[in-house]
Parts: sequence; structure tokens; C-alpha cells
Amino acid sequence: MRILVVGGGGREHALCWAISASPLCTKLYCAPGNAGIARVAECVAVGAEDIPGQVALAQRLQIDFVVIGPDAPLVAGMADGFAAAGIKVFGPSKAAAQLEGSKSFTKELCSRHNIPTAAYERFTDLDKAIAYIKAAHLKTGGAPIVVKADGLAAGKGVIVAETVDQAIDAVRDMLAGNRFGTAGASVVIEEFMAGEEVSLFALCDGEDVLPLVGVQDHKRAFDGDKGPNTGGMGAYSPVPLLDQAMFDRAMREIVLPTVRGMKAEGLPFKGVLYAGLMIDKNGPRLVEYNCRFGDPECQVLMMRLKSDIVPALIACADGGLKHLDLRWSDQTALTVILATRGYPDAYKNGSEIRGLAEAGKVEGVEIFHAGTKVEGGRTLANGGRVLNVTAIAPTVEEARARAYRAVDLIDWPEGFCRRDIAWRAVK
Ligand code: AMP
Ligand code: GLY
Repeated sequence: MRILVVGGGGREHALCWAISASPLCTKLYCAPGNAGIARVAECVAVGAEDIPGQVALAQRLQIDFVVIGPDAPLVAGMADGFAAAGIKVFGPSKAAAQLEGSKSFTKELCSRHNIPTAAYERFTDLDKAIAYIKAAHLKTGGAPIVVKADGLAAGKGVIVAETVDQAIDAVRDMLAGNRFGTAGASVVIEEFMAGEEVSLFALCDGEDVLPLVGVQDHKRAFDGDKGPNTGGMGAYSPVPLLDQAMFDRAMREIVLPTVRGMKAEGLPFKGVLYAGLMIDKNGPRLVEYNCRFGDPECQVLMMRLKSDIVPALIACADGGLKHLDLRWSDQTALTVILATRGYPDAYKNGSEIRGLAEAGKVEGVEIFHAGTKVEGGRTLANGGRVLNVTAIAPTVEEARARAYRAVDLIDWPEGFCRRDIAWRAVK
């Protein structure tokens, strides 16, 4: 089977790494890919968001199955584009991808199907939003207030405001279109949920669900969960907080009613559903849905997965997930993101990275590339998040030691990483 993966980040490198090991895959392409992906797949320079370009590429290469990695093309309808061309695709339709693309769509679905999540209200009018913020703040006795742009904003459209004034400034900025462009034309204001965040993944074929495992991401840029929010600076799995009982409860109370609700409303979800959960003493609540694998969560999922991933991805498109089972390593997988200094704000591309070959030899380590290119035999940084140094070992402490041993062999003065990945699990 000829397979095309759409995307060019660390998530897509991990997917290509897993797919290339499948006996079902006879030829693997990735578009646009990156320097690391080029070691396991043939990379083609077509942009991940270019729907007609990707469809034409798949036709030219006689692709049997396409796996779409990132959110933006899914929310823009890329899966529908492949389906219309008669090409089998992993990833939800544009209508189902609203679960990620529209915060208000998801909030309304949650209220129709009794899915636990934060109380919220949606606004396009500044004065009404201000009145709501003031009233909500009185009611909660001063807890933070969460302000979200209603569309996709690359994971950065969320402000956790500590004061009423900050919340009002955030709403004013978003509605004026100064921040997040059209994604901020309407805003969602919601109750702050305290607790610990985890990510839960489940494959869906529109009808049935195959739960994967839990992962914990580290969204803030710096150690101790300080600094700005990023796309994710590291992740690990399994997560002690998400034990089997809590996992089953989140499936029962959150994921299953969502999948059933989507089907009942004529928008069957096919692909991987990524539930961002907040867990406190009362149990799990939904923070948000994403309609694709997490990045970097996917990297640790692929390290722990022992089964062939290809039949499971195909079953999401074709149906029949209920007949499948996946086996997972009970070891811990952990990934550390190396990013270019300055990320998530402005940074410079093009600095040279040395020592990758040595680092990749550390036992249990795989280095996934998130943003690299090769020029004249030299590996250069080409993005904010650049490398995902991923390790697997019998304990979280050993996985962490292996990952940082490899990190320390990488010679890249322009890069930085967090040194505390998995701190909640390491005793
Ligand atoms: P989202 O894009 O909705 O995942 O939000 C990004 C991040 O903001 C989440 O991962 C949380 O850390 C935080 N966040 C979002 N909504 C809430 C909420 N209602 N309460 C507390 N934190 C939140
Ligand atoms: N790591 C967070 C995300 O993929 O959205």
C-alpha cells in the first residue's frame, strides 16, 4: 500500500516512523516533510495546507491512503478534498473538525449531551462581554477568567486572565481583530477550572471508539511551568493521574457521549479524537477537543505502541475499529523538545545543529525532527520547535535520564529545552 502523510513536524516524523515499520506499507511519502522525515519517507515539497496541491500529489503518486497530521488543513476541509477524489483518508471531515475549529460548536455540543466542561458564554459585543466578566468575577470571588478566540489560533488564542481588567483587555483586543485576526471575531468567556491537565486519545470510525492511552504535555515554555504557552515543550506517558479507573470514567462521561452525539447529529467523527482534560477531586472535565494527534504527544504514543498502526488508521476510515485491539508497552516514553531561542515569539532560522548521530545512539532514544533542513550536509534549525528527543525505559526516571543524556550530546547553542519534563511523575 502506498501511503502519504501530510505535514512536516515532529508528530509527522513519529507517524512516518511508525507507518514505515508496517508490513502493509510498500512506499511512504510525506509532504512537505523535513530533514528527519526524509530518512524514513520520500519528502515532496507541497505545503501541508495546500488542499488542491496535496490532492493532485496523491493522484500523481497513486496513493492508496493519506494520513493528515495537522489541524489547520483538517479544519479547512482537506479530508473532504481527498474523499471527493476517491482517495482513502485518515482524518475527520470539515464538519466534524469543528470540534477543534470552533470552541462554541464544542461548548454547545457539550451542553446538548451533558458533557462536563467549564461554564461559558459566547460574545461578539464588547459591552455585553464586559458585563458578563464583571458578574462572573463577583460570583467566583476572584478566580481567574478564561478568554478564548473562537477559531483556530495555533494554540495561542487562550488568555487565562488574573484580573477583570486583564480579561476586558483581552476581549477588547480579540474583538478588535488585533490579535488572532478573524479567529477572534467572536470570543468565548469561560469559568477557570483548577486541577491537573492530561490528554486522552481515542481512534474513532464514526461509530465505534478504540481508546489509546493518556499523555501529559508541558505547555509553558520554561521550567516550573513558567513563561508563555507554547505548542508543547515535552510529554510523557503513561500518566499516573490517569489510572485505569479515571481513564474509563473520562471515556464514559466525555469521549463516548461526544462520539455518539456527533453521529446522532449527522457529523460522524472519523480520525483521532484528542480530549484535553482537567482533572480535580470531582473527576474529569473537558478543556477542549482537538481533531488530530497531539504534537508532541504523538511522539510518545508511537514509542509506546507495539502493534502495527496502519490497520487502526485505515479502520478509522473504513469502519471496523471494534474488531481491533492495540498493544502498548508498559514502559514510560518521554520526549523533550529542543526549540530555537526566542520561541514561541520571534526566533531566527538557520543555526547549525551538531551531534545528532551520537545522541541518537543512546539506548532507547529516537530523535524526531520537528523543524530542520539539510544544506550542504549540515543540519540546520528551521522552525520554533526543532527536535523531539524521545526515550523509552522501564521507569519514568530512567526514560528522563536517557532523554537528557541524548539532549546533552546535541551541540546547538541557539537551542533551549525544559529540564523538568515529567516533573509531576518523577518522585
Ligand atoms: P485550549 O486551547 O482551549 O486548550 O486552551 C489552552 C490552555 O489554556 C489549556 O491547555 C489550559 O492550560 C488553559 N485553559 C483553557 N481553558 C481553561 C479553563 N476553563 N480553565 C483553566 N485553564 C484553561
Ligand atoms: N501539544 C498540544 C497540541 O498538540 O495541541
